[in-house]
Amino acid sequence: MKSDMKISVLYDEDSIARRNAELADAIVAAKPHELLVVAVLKGSFMFAADLIRALHRAGLEPQVEFVHLSSYREATVSSGQVEILKDIDSDVRGRDILLVDDILESGRTLAFAKDLLMARGARRVLTAVLLEKPGKRAVQVGADFVGFECPDLFVIGYGMDVAHSYRQLPFVGFVEQGA
Ligand code: IMP
Ligand code: MG
Repeated sequence: MKSDMKISVLYDEDSIARRNAELADAIVAAKPHELLVVAVLKGSFMFAADLIRALHRAGLEPQVEFVHLSSYREATVSSGQVEILKDIDSDVRGRDILLVDDILESGRTLAFAKDLLMARGARRVLTAVLLEKPGKRAVQVGADFVGFECPDLFVIGYGMDVAHSYRQLPFVGFVEQGA
């Protein structure tokens, strides 16, 4: 089934790499203090890995943590509930956090994670998302750093999945309708 699906490229490897370098420069300009990157698993793992290396090249020395949140299950529509499947280990008090996620859609995931880290005493929670889908917000939350404004398609690749497949693709793509 999955090998029959036709996948089109939306953002290729070079565009993503160039954008990550620009995002890193913008993050440096925000002068983060004792920076801790918190990557939201699973979808952001590839973006986070590239962004963290771009931050290093731009002169920052962030520490890195992961939080595994789930709101999607295997459906392609959000359930509205966010739960913590794996929490971070570090104390965030007094630190600047860069929360990294793959897509900002309803905003529930990002709002949940941001509120959680602020409630634990973070000094500032900056947010970076690879993709933002406009007009889909259910919760009022914005991202400080956005890779690309994404059309309203179900996207896959570069860490993002549909039913656990396609995370390995080095580009962001979408499945062609009717394929
Ligand atoms: P939100 O909580 O509705 O903002 O949704 C954010 C999460 O939904 C992201 O972290 C993704 O894991 C998932 N998601 C939303 N849209 C897509 C998509 O087009 N492809 C894959 N995952 C998506
Ligand atoms: Mg996700």
